[in-house]
Parts: sequence; structure tokens; C-alpha cells
Amino acid sequence: MNRKQQVRAAFSAATRSYEAAARAQAISAGFLADLVAALPRPTAPKVLEFGCGTGLLTRRLHPRLDGDWLVSDLSPEMLKAAESALPGPRYRVMDAENPDLDERFDLIVSNLAAQWFADLPAAATKLVGMLNPGGHLVFSTLASGSFRQWRDAHHSLGLESGVPDFPDVEALPQARIVEQIFDLEYADGRAFAAELKHIGAGTPAPGHVPLGVGQMRRVFQALGSPCAMTYHVAHLIISKE
Ligand SMILES: C[S@@+](CC[C@H](N)C(=O)[O-])C[C@H]1O[C@@H](n2cnc3c(N)ncnc32)[C@H](O)[C@@H]1O
Repeated sequence: MNRKQQVRAAFSAATRSYEAAARAQAISAGFLADLVAALPRPTAPKVLEFGCGTGLLTRRLHPRLDGDWLVSDLSPEMLKAAESALPGPRYRVMDAENPDLDERFDLIVSNLAAQWFADLPAAATKLVGMLNPGGHLVFSTLASGSFRQWRDAHHSLGLESGVPDFPDVEALPQARIVEQIFDLEYADGRAFAAELKHIGAGTPAPGHVPLGVGQMRRVFQALGSPCAMTYHVAHLIISKE
């Protein structure tokens, strides 16, 4: 399995446990929905959502944005869950890094999917190319401050964490960027790792060598109990002239 297939398989397997565990995604989706709803747009915009998951953003935004929606995700299982929760829009399995669509859109939106892209700048260029003039690409992604406590606990023990390195905000594609930073509390490091698994976000960074049981136990000890975990979300708004 290549990395993209691993990512798809992990999210597909987590479809049923996703919503109960996706606390951070729900917070980010609410923030992003407010940003999108405030943007200028035609009366009945054409909207594309990528990486919809079970539809946390879809359900927050669709009622506020009457238009022609196409909702997509890499994982067929996630897409099916989104469709049964909100019938009405068109749904389609799609890799947003390789969109196979002839249509143009007034809005392209996505919440916390782009951190899984192999090449975010290239994907953003392709997606902007699918906008009508005056359209907006608006998406959130994780930035470098995310999970710093997890990374620090590993580094304090001379270990590398499997969580991918998220980019500094300055290294993200050119955009208007609104940062959202918040902490979530966990009973302990084990609960944080379990939550990542329950949302399907357990695929490690490329090349990561899994740690042994004893090493993980030391990481959990270093984190303490309870422990906080920072989410550093960057919301990007890229508008087409
Ligand atoms: C953390 S979930 C976020 C789901 C949803 N947007 C939300 O806010 O709850 C990430 C989603 O991105 C999807 N995904 C990952 N890589 C993708 C890609 N290249 N193209 C489309 N979707 C992708 C996954 O299948 C998963 O459903």
C-alpha cells in the first residue's frame, strides 16, 4: 500500500468512531463555516467541498449557503456517512490532489483534510484553477504548533514522534491566513493516541519507525496525566481575481 492508500484505509476504518472523537475538527469546522459564510459570493454559488469526512463542515455550512454543492472525499466509507447524514448535495469519491472534474466553482472549501496532501502548494494551485473569477478557495490545515506537547515529550527522551511535521504558517501557500489556536485536555497521552486512531489520523509520517511498548510508556509518563494538546489551525483564503 502506498501512503495515500494507507491514509484512505485508516479513515475508512474510522468512519463509525469518527464523530464521537473529532472534537478538534468540530471546533475548526464551526470557525471555518463562519469565515466562509462571510465571504462575498453569487446568490446560488457552485460549491465544491473536498475531504468532507462524515460531513462536519458540510452540515454546518450547507444550511447557510444555498447553492449547487458537490461534496467529495478520498474515502468511499466516509463519503457514504456524509451522504446519509445530509442527503441533497451531489457526492463523489475524489482525491483532491488529483481532481478529475471539468466543472468550475465559486467556492471550494475543506476542513482539516489538506494536512494529508503529499504536495499542498501543487494541490492549492490546481484547486484555484477550478475557481470561477471572483471565487474563493477556503480551507483549514494543521500548522507547526500542533501537538507540540507530544513532540516535546518525545524529544525530551531522544525519540522521534510519528506525527508528521506540520508547516510554519509562513511556509503555507500565499493566502489570507486566519490562525486558530486552542488546547484540548486528555486524561493522558494514551487517550490522545487513541483519539487520533478513532478519527483515522493514525497514519505515521513517511519513514517513521514505530516505537516499542516501553518507549511509548516513557512518552506517556513524560506527558503526565492529565495532559493538554495544542491545535494550531491555519485557515487559508485564496481568492481568484
Ligand atoms: C480529519 S478528516 C476531516 C473530515 C472533515 N472535513 C471534518 O471536518 O470532520 C480528513 C478527511 O480528509 C480525507 N482526505 C485525506 N486525504 C485526502 C485527499 N487527498 N483527497 C480528498 N480527501 C482526503 C480523509 O479521507 C478524511 O475523511
